[in-house]
Parts: sequence; C-alpha cells; structure tokens
Amino acid sequence: MAAITPHVETEFARAEARPKFKPVEMTALDYTPEIEAETAHLYERVKDVVPSIEWPFFAPTIKAINDLKETRNAVILAHNYMTPEIFHCVADIVGDSLQLAKEAAKTDADVIVQCGVHFMAETAKLINPEKTVLIPDSRAGCSLADSITPEDVRGLREKYPGVPIVTYINTSAAVKAECDITCTSSNAVKVVESFGVDRVLLIPDEYLAQYVATQTDVEVLSWKGHCEVHERFTGPELRAYREADPATRIIAHPECPPEVIAEADYTGSTANMIDWVKTNKPEKVVLVTECSMADNVAAETPEVEFVRPCNLCPHMKRITLQNILDALVYMREEVDVEPTVAAKARRAVERMINLQS
Ligand code: 13P
Ligand code: SF4
Repeated sequence: MAAITPHVETEFARAEARPKFKPVEMTALDYTPEIEAETAHLYERVKDVVPSIEWPFFAPTIKAINDLKETRNAVILAHNYMTPEIFHCVADIVGDSLQLAKEAAKTDADVIVQCGVHFMAETAKLINPEKTVLIPDSRAGCSLADSITPEDVRGLREKYPGVPIVTYINTSAAVKAECDITCTSSNAVKVVESFGVDRVLLIPDEYLAQYVATQTDVEVLSWKGHCEVHERFTGPELRAYREADPATRIIAHPECPPEVIAEADYTGSTANMIDWVKTNKPEKVVLVTECSMADNVAAETPEVEFVRPCNLCPHMKRITLQNILDALVYMREEVDVEPTVAAKARRAVERMINLQS
C-alpha cells in the first residue's frame, strides 16, 4: 500500500518547546505495512465505529502516542466523551469524572495526560501536585465551570450562613477552594446526605441539583448553571423516539432538564449509563448525553442498536489524536494550580474521594 502521511504538526506543535523537557525527535508518520500489522489489534476494537478508510490516518499517530507513553512514563486518562480512536486505542484509563479522579490518585506514572476538559486536568493536578499534568488543548473548558466564580460562592456563604456547600466537580479549582466538598454525578446524593443536615447547597448545575432533590429528603439549593450540551435535549424529542418504537430505552444524564429526565428509563453518570447498557443489553437505546459516548459503547456492544441524537461537547472535541501526540512530544500544555488555592481545593476533592472508599 502507498504510504499515507497525515498532517503531522499543529500550530501548537510548532511553538517553542518548554525548556524543562526535551522534545522527542519524531520520524514521519506513514501508514506502512508494519504499522498496519502493529495496530491491527486496535482496529479490531473500533472496526464497527471507525470506517476502514479512516484507519490509515489514525494508525500512525496512535502507534506514535503509545510508543511515547513509555518514553515519558505517561498515563492517558480519557473521559467517556472522547472519540473512539482516543477512547479505545490510546487511553490507559477511561471513565466518568469520579473514576478518573480516583484513578489519578492511584497512578505511579510521572506524567498524566488528561483527555477531557480543563477542570478534569486541574483535579488530576490537585490530587498529584508532584506530577506533570498535561492537557492537549487548554481551551477545553466547560459551560458549568464557567457559570460560577469564587466571588459567587462567597456570596452564597453570606446568604446561607452555616449551609454546607457541595460543588459539582465541573468547576474551577478556585471555586472548589471556596466549597466544603466536591461531588460528581455518580455520588451527588451520597455527598449531599453525608452532612446529616436538612439543607445543602449543590452548585453550579441547577438540573443536577433538581434531580438530586428528587432522590433525597435533604433540601437542595442550587445555582443557575447549565451544561450547554445536556440542556439542548427536550421532552418532546425523547417522546418522539419512544413513539417511533415503543421498545426504545431512554437513558439520561442528570445534567438534563427535569422534563427530559421524566422521560428516561434510567438516569445516571456516564459510567452508570454505560454499565446500564452493558448489563441490560436493550434492543434499542438512546443515550441522552454527549454524542461520542454512544460510539464508544457501540464498539463493545454490537448487538445493541443506538439511536443517535448528536449533541457534541465542543470543549471535549478539542482533544484530538494530533494534539495528544503534540502534548507528549513537547510536554505541553502543563496544568498548574496556585498553591494556596490548590491546598483548599484539594481538601474538597479528597473529602469526596475518602467518602467513597
Ligand atoms: P460524568 O461524571 O457523568 O462523566 O459527567 C461529566 C460531564 O462533564 C458530563 O457532561
Ligand atoms: Fe461541561 Fe457539558 Fe461539556 Fe460536560 S458536556 S464538559 S458539563 S459543557
């Protein structure tokens, strides 16, 4: 087969390398018969969701990333919303926000490459202050994290004196530093109940707080933040899927509006949603969440038909194979948290992790 050379250098890759680390010399990323053979087992994992015509463009970069992980003693943590070639072919650990935070705490690698959004990389850094944490594109933000500032949290403390403040992990370290504990969508009820009080603030996701309030006797106050991906789903849209085929199961993330959750057969974190599909193996399912997750689960459950409303998270989609490779070649973009902020934010994250175990 003729050699295919994909675009090798992004704009980032051409920028100055950080002096602390030497960039690695890279050879051309050609799709040779050797690369084809060495990556065949990886293509096998994604063959149902990645067309064979695209593989020659992915395979050389995948091979280079997997080789460089060893050179750098790096681990790649990937959120469930990463595209299949990242999720199934270069990630060492995949999961929801809670799983990624817990696994970040366990790793003995020197370098963590966070394939997810910025608050996830910050969380990994809080847990591992001595390690190098890289995010392939630091512009990968989150509408929930952007919806609240540390000043807003201080305002809430004044308005609700003595009421514990739980922050969803989808916030900046500076916001976490003002809060008592973090939570994720998979442990929010447990965290809210852990204080043993009647009233708790759960910020900044209004819909998650409303969902948690339906699962506990604790009064849950919130903030007005929303996820720009999940707030787009509507009740009529989901009813239409069910009317088209009454056997369709609807599985929703708790960042969805209440009218959407009301239509769901099951609600849970991204990891809980995946477990539900793998355990129940419905004939047909709609995953009411970010679009790439259905591809990742479909690759492992070919017997399930996925109805795919495609709401993409533009922030998660900033992470690509190419910038993961650049991250490892040039050791960028490094994530750091100011030490006084980090000390307080770490306490909030560690309280949550300790509550789990
Ligand atoms: P999970 O913790 O359920 O993976 O959610 C993270 C997220 O950003 C969902 O939009
Ligand atoms: Fe943030 Fe929503 Fe994207 Fe998750 S899907 S990272 S909550 S914007």
